[in-house]
Amino acid sequence: MDKLVIRGGNRLSGEVSASGAKNAVLPLMTSAILASGRSSFSNVPDLKDVRTMGRLLEHMGAAVSFGNGTLDVDTSNLNAFDAPYDLVRTMRASVLVLGPLVARMGSARVSLPGGCAIGARPINLHLKGLEKMGAKIVLEGGYVHASVSGRLRGARITFDIPTVTGTENLMMAAALADGDTIIENAACEPEVTDLADALVKMGARISGAGTPKVRITGVENLAPVTHAVIPDRIETGTFMVAAGITGGDIFIRGGRLDHLEAVAEKLREIGIVVAEAPGGVRAWANGSLGAVDIKTMPFPGFPTDMQAQLMAFLSVVSGMSVITESIFENRYMHVAELDRLGADIRVDGSVAKVRGVPSLKGADVMATDLRASASLVLAGLVANGVTTVHRIYHLDRGYDGIEKKLTALGADIRRERD
Ligand code: EPZ
Repeated sequence: MDKLVIRGGNRLSGEVSASGAKNAVLPLMTSAILASGRSSFSNVPDLKDVRTMGRLLEHMGAAVSFGNGTLDVDTSNLNAFDAPYDLVRTMRASVLVLGPLVARMGSARVSLPGGCAIGARPINLHLKGLEKMGAKIVLEGGYVHASVSGRLRGARITFDIPTVTGTENLMMAAALADGDTIIENAACEPEVTDLADALVKMGARISGAGTPKVRITGVENLAPVTHAVIPDRIETGTFMVAAGITGGDIFIRGGRLDHLEAVAEKLREIGIVVAEAPGGVRAWANGSLGAVDIKTMPFPGFPTDMQAQLMAFLSVVSGMSVITESIFENRYMHVAELDRLGADIRVDGSVAKVRGVPSLKGADVMATDLRASASLVLAGLVANGVTTVHRIYHLDRGYDGIEKKLTALGADIRRERD
């Protein structure tokens, strides 16, 4: 296992490039199941989860090659329609093979993802939607067995709550179904829209992606696609916070402000300047900072994947900030670790009260999940002395070479064997 050793106090400034979006490339990779042949994706980040998804697709008989940002998936010879537990338990997004497998092969056997640090992560809405489209669903031995004789059929599906991968799974299944599918209360995240754009290029007929109502008219066949992955809005937001927390000035090349309006608004409310600049987004500290209240919501609201990062920032902003996590039931694992650095945060159910302190003091801390890791790194950038973040395999799931990018911006940070 690796750790990151950070000496805080440096002001970060300069230019960094946003990598491709983890949560866009994972569904794009499974969409290749829908079309026999070789699909090719560019601007692909080199992440643990991308390599895990590649291994899962190879397990199913696909040919996967990945080099300097381009990932090819050839699904001409798929010969296994299952996602085994040992792969799924390390990456929940494996559930994204379910819709495409049932749609193209008529059968899928996918391990139930199980929970993770931030919550139970059920997939009941995915399964209910597939059943409405005619799939037979049997839960047995910790696996989902889904099957349909002939084609899935179009259906009207209303989600109790917007689910990102649920929307993606059913959009992919509906693309090859017989008839029209309407998904109501669909997730509107940019990664859903990016997947829809790729599916349309494959020959799918989809309208309304990015809005709560998506209509898909099924077709008989889809063709392989060549597609560039959108930039990672959560990585972009994380670097915007790095500028704020260190009193710096960072230009994120490739960053898209239209994917981050809610985050930009919150940072401006705190006192950070966030502006579009040619080819990306720039964030810089400009004078006094003040506490704010945040409630995480589905897109276009404030993203839950940025909650931990803003909490790190607000822990050193004077005043009382109130954060409400409304998406996941246990996404405060970073609080106890931030408190070890001297933060003053009280959690009561889904609400975290963050009283800003004048400074943090470096210490050993433990990463528990992907975005919690990012918040600990951000806190280490500003804490006095040395902060060591252990178990950063969590971080490597969603950030491509973060310590190299931060070093280029002036951070004193290095990766060591733990
Ligand atoms: C996606 O997870 C992202 N992962 C998550 O990013 C992100 O935090 C989440 O969306 C919310 O934006 C990928 O895209 C690979 P959901 P997903 O289904 O799809 C409940 C990261 O850090 N729910 O939108 O699993 C669920 O429990 C990761 O990059 C059901 O009840 O999230 C949650 O409370 C973490 N039943 C809420 O909906 C279901 O069938 C939203 O979950 C599905 C979801």
